[in-house]
Amino acid sequence: MVDRRSIVSFGFLFLLWFQLTFEQLEPLSSSTERAALLELRSSLGLRSKEWPRKAEPCFIWKGVQCENGRVVGINISGFRRTRIGRQNPQFAVDALANFTFLQSFNVSNFLLLGPIPDWFGQRLPSLRVLDLRSCSINGSIPFSLGNLTSLTSLYLSDNSLTAQIPDTLRQLLGLSVLDLSRNSLTGSIPPWFTFLGNLSSLDISANFFSGPIPSGIGTLSKLQYLNLSHNSLTSSIPIQVGNLSSLVDLDLSVNSLSGLVPPDLRGLRNLERLILGNNTLGGPFPENIFQSLLQLQFIVLSHNNISGALPDELWSLPRLRFVDVSWNNFAGMLPNSSLIANATSAELNISHNLFYGGLTPVLRRFSFIDLSSNYFEGMVLDFLLNNASLDSNCLQNVSNQKTSVECASFYTERGLAFDNFGRRNLTEPPAAENGGKNNRNKIILASVLGGFGLIVLMVLVLILLLLCARKRRNSNHRGNGVGPAPAGGSPPPPGVLISFSTVGDSFTYQQLLQATGFSDTNLIKHGHAGDLFNGVLENGIPVVIRRIDMCSNKKDAYISELDFFRKVSHPRFVPLLGHCLDNENEKFLVYKHMPNGDLSNCLYRKTTSEDGTLQSLDWITRLKIATGVAEALSYLHHECNPPFVHRDIQASSILLDDKYEVRLGSLSEVCTQEGDPHQSKITRFLRFPQSSEQGTSGLSTSICAYDVYCFGKILLGLVTGKLGISGSSDIEEKEWLEQTLSCISIYDKELVTKIVDPSMIVDEDFLEEVWAVAIVARSCLNPKPSRRPPMKYVLKALENPLKVVREENSSSARLRATSSRGSWNAALFGSWRQSSSDVTAIPSASGARIEGVSSLKHSPTTGSQGSNQNGGGDSSSRRRHSKEIFPEPSNVQDVERLEHE
Ligand SMILES: *[C@@H]1O[C@H](CO)[C@@H](O)[C@H](O)[C@H]1NC(C)=O
Ligand SMILES: *[C@@H]1O[C@H](CO)[C@@H](O)[C@H](O)[C@H]1NC(C)=O
Ligand SMILES: *[C@@H]1O[C@H](CO)[C@@H](O)[C@H](O)[C@H]1NC(C)=O
Ligand SMILES: *[C@@H]1O[C@H](CO)[C@@H](O)[C@H](O)[C@H]1NC(C)=O
Ligand SMILES: *[C@@H]1O[C@H](CO)[C@@H](O)[C@H](O)[C@H]1NC(C)=O
Ligand SMILES: *[C@@H]1O[C@H](CO)[C@@H](O)[C@H](O)[C@H]1NC(C)=O
Ligand SMILES: *[C@@H]1O[C@H](CO)[C@@H](O)[C@H](O)[C@H]1NC(C)=O
Ligand SMILES: *[C@@H]1O[C@H](CO)[C@@H](O)[C@H](O)[C@H]1NC(C)=O
Repeated sequence: MVDRRSIVSFGFLFLLWFQLTFEQLEPLSSSTERAALLELRSSLGLRSKEWPRKAEPCFIWKGVQCENGRVVGINISGFRRTRIGRQNPQFAVDALANFTFLQSFNVSNFLLLGPIPDWFGQRLPSLRVLDLRSCSINGSIPFSLGNLTSLTSLYLSDNSLTAQIPDTLRQLLGLSVLDLSRNSLTGSIPPWFTFLGNLSSLDISANFFSGPIPSGIGTLSKLQYLNLSHNSLTSSIPIQVGNLSSLVDLDLSVNSLSGLVPPDLRGLRNLERLILGNNTLGGPFPENIFQSLLQLQFIVLSHNNISGALPDELWSLPRLRFVDVSWNNFAGMLPNSSLIANATSAELNISHNLFYGGLTPVLRRFSFIDLSSNYFEGMVLDFLLNNASLDSNCLQNVSNQKTSVECASFYTERGLAFDNFGRRNLTEPPAAENGGKNNRNKIILASVLGGFGLIVLMVLVLILLLLCARKRRNSNHRGNGVGPAPAGGSPPPPGVLISFSTVGDSFTYQQLLQATGFSDTNLIKHGHAGDLFNGVLENGIPVVIRRIDMCSNKKDAYISELDFFRKVSHPRFVPLLGHCLDNENEKFLVYKHMPNGDLSNCLYRKTTSEDGTLQSLDWITRLKIATGVAEALSYLHHECNPPFVHRDIQASSILLDDKYEVRLGSLSEVCTQEGDPHQSKITRFLRFPQSSEQGTSGLSTSICAYDVYCFGKILLGLVTGKLGISGSSDIEEKEWLEQTLSCISIYDKELVTKIVDPSMIVDEDFLEEVWAVAIVARSCLNPKPSRRPPMKYVLKALENPLKVVREENSSSARLRATSSRGSWNAALFGSWRQSSSDVTAIPSASGARIEGVSSLKHSPTTGSQGSNQNGGGDSSSRRRHSKEIFPEPSNVQDVERLEHE
C-alpha cells in the first residue's frame, strides 16, 4: 500500500524535476564561470543591488541569463558602477574569456571608457549579439573583432571610434545588423560590405565616410534598413540601389551626393521612407517613380537642386505622412485631381521652389502645409487659410506676397499667363473714365483711325499673302510629310548667346562618345533635324542623343528647341536631359530614352512568340495616347503665351514611355504662333476661298489649326490602324481621306465599322467611343483652318468621348446653341456637316464672323489663344479651368437638332 505522504512527496519531486529540466532553472554549474562572474563584477565595479555577492547568479543576478547551468547572456545595459568603480572606469572585461557559451553581451549605456581591448574578439567563439552602444569607447575597432564569426548583431554606435573599419570584419558573414553610426570613422565604405549577404540593417550614419557608395551594395538583397546619412559621400547614387527590393528605409541625406535621382529606385517596392535631403542632387526628378513605391510614407528631398515637375502620382500615394521637397528647383503646377482625398495629419513642405499656377484640392489631405516662396497665383482655397504658410507667392488677397513685377517676369519667362493678383493688366491703357462727351469723341476718332488702319492692314496682308504663296511654291508642302517647313517661328537668332544652363546638364563630347560611340548599330534614324542615336550614360541611364550637323540647313533648329525647353516644362514632352554645345561643327541634345519608342513602331508589334504574328494596341491604350497628345497640344496652344505651334505632329513624333504615356518629341519645329494673332485672324479670313478650293491642310504651318489638322490624321490613324497616310502621295492621301471620312456619320454608328482597324477587338461599348473619336477626327480634318476645333475642346471631347455622340434632351438646348459658348460645337459640327447640307454652313460661318469682330474689338495685347480660336466671351480669364467655360459636347447635337427643325 502506498500512503498519502509518499504520493505528495513524489509529486513534489516530480514538479521540481520538471521545473529544473524544462524551465532551465539550474544553478550555475561551472565554478570557472562563477569565479569569472565575480571577477567581472569587481573589474567593472557592479553593485550588490544588481549582482548581490551571496546569491545564486542564474536566479537572482539581474541581466545574467543561464542555460543548463552555464552563462549564455550578460546584459548590464544601463547599470551604474559603485563609487569606487566610478573613479577609474575601464574596459576591463578579461573575465569574459572564461564564458565558453556566452551568446549575448549587452553593455549599452554603461561607461566603459577607453578602447576595445585587442584580444576582445578572440575568446568568445559563440558570441552572437554584442551591444556596445553609448559606452564612451574610443580608439579604433580592433582587427580581432573579425574573429567573432558567429555574430549576427553588432552595435557600436554612439561612441568615439576612429580610423577605418578593419577589413577583418568582412569575415562576419552571419551579420544581420551592423550599426556603426555616430562615431568618427573615416575612409571609404569598404567594398566588401557587399559580401555580408545576410545584412538586413546597415547603419553607418554620422561618421566621416567619404567617396562613392559602392555599387555592389545592390547585392544585399535582404537589406531592409540602409542609413548612410550625415557623412561626406560623393558621386551619384548607384542605380543598383534600386535592386534592394526588400528595403523599407533608405536614408542618404546630408552627404555630397550629386547627379540624378536614379529612376531605378522605382524597384524599391517596399520602401516606406525615402530620405535624400541635403545633397547636391540635380536634374529632373524621375517621373513614374512613385507608381511602384506605393508604401511610401516619408519623402524628403529638401535642399538639393532637383528640377522638373513633381510626379503627379505623389499626390495619390495612399500612406503618405510627410513630404518635404523644399529648397529645390521643382517647377510646374499642382495637379487638379478629381480624387477627393480625405484630410490626414500628413505634412507637406514644398516651399522655396518654382511651383506656379493655382492652388488645388490635392492639398486637402495635408494638415500642415508650407507653400512659401513659390509662384502660386490665384485665390487661396478656404481650407488653406489656417494651416498653410503662403508667404512670398503671387497669391490674391493674402499678405507678404512677391511683387507683381517679380511674378509677371517669372510667368513671362516661361511663356505663361499671369493673373496679376486678379487685377487688370496694369500695362493696358486705362479705360476712359472722364466725361461721356470726351469718350464719344475718342470712340469716333478711334473708329475712323481704326477703319483706315484696317484698310492699310488688309492691303499689307494681301501683299504678304502673295509673297508667301510664291515662296511656298518653291518649298515643300508640309502636309505631305516630305520635309519640314523652314522655321517660321521666332527662335533666338544664331550667335545670340542665351543661357541654357538651366536646360538640363552640360555634357562633354567625351561623355557622349562613351555613351553611344555614334556607331551604326546605335543609330536610330536620320531625322530631319539631325541623326538620332541610342546610348547609355555613365550612370546607366539610357538616352537618345541627337547629333546636329552644323553644315546642314537645319543647323539652328537646336537653338529654338533649347529655347523651347527653357520656357516649357511639362510632363507631356520628352525630357531633355542635357546638351553638348562645345563643338563648332556638331551640337548634341540628350533626351531620355522612351522604352516604347514612338507610335509608328508601337501600334503594331511582333509578338514574342515564334510565329511572329502582329499584335496591335488595344483601344483603351489608343485612346490614352490620343488624349496624351491632345493634352500636350492643348498645353502648347492654350496655356503658353504666346501660343506654341508644334508643326511636326506625326506618328514618329509621339513617343511613349513604359506605361504608354505620351511624351511628345520632335520639338525642333516648334514655333510661336505666326505673327500677331489678330492679324493672322484676318489673313485666315482672306484665305478661306483659296484654301477650301485646294482642300489642303491650310496654308500656314505656324498656326495652331495646323497642329489640329495633323492631330486629326493621328486620331483617324488610331481608329483605322493606318498611320502611314501622311507618308503617301498627296493624291493617294486625299482619296483615302475622302473615302474614310465618308464613313464617319453622326447619324450612323454602324457605318464606322467599315473603317475601324480590323486587328482591334472592339465590342459594343467601345464602338461608341471609337465612333465618337472618329467624329472628333473628322472635325479636326476640316479643310478650313478656322473651322477646326481648338485643341482644348478636342481634349475635352476625348476625355469624355461618349458625350460627343450621346443625345441630351434638354429644353435649354436651343438657348445654349445660340449663345456664343456654342462656338466649338459650331466648329466641330460645322466641319462634320459641311459636306452634307448647305444650311449647316450658317452657324459656323456666323461663328467665324463673331470671332473676327471680337478679335478686332479686343485690344491687340490680348494674345491669348483662347480668344483667337474660340471667339468672344472668355478672353478676360486666361487661366481658367476649361471645365468652367467648356460647352458640353452634347451641344453638338443641340445645334444639329436645331438645324433639323
Ligand atoms: C579565465 O581565463 C583566463 C585565461 O584563459 C585565466 O588566466 C583566468 O585565470 C581565468 N579566470 C578564472 C576566474 O578562472
Ligand atoms: C537586457 O536586455 C533587454 C532587451 O533585450 C532589456 O529589455 C532589459 O531591460 C535589459 N537589461 C536587463 C538588466 O535585463
Ligand atoms: C541592450 O539593452 C538595452 C537596454 O536594456 C536594450 O534597449 C537593447 O535592445 C539591448 N540590446 C540588444 C541587442 O538586445
Ligand atoms: C581614450 O579616452 C581616454 C580618456 O578620455 C584617453 O585618455 C585616451 O587617450 C583615449 N584614447 C584614444 C586612442 O583616443
Ligand atoms: C583572430 O584574429 C587574428 C587577427 O585577425 C588572427 O591572427 C587570429 O588567427 C584569429 N584567431 C582565431 C582563433 O581565429
Ligand atoms: C540641410 O541644409 C540646410 C541648409 O544648409 C540646413 O539648414 C539644415 O539644417 C540641413 N539639414 C540637416 C538635416 O542637416
Ligand atoms: C475617405 O473616407 C471615407 C470614409 O472614411 C472612405 O469611404 C473613402 O474611401 C475615403 N476616400 C479616400 C479617397 O480615401
Ligand atoms: C499686360 O500687357 C502687356 C502688353 O501691354 C503684356 O506684355 C503682358 O504680358 C500683359 N500681362 C498680363 C499678365 O497679361
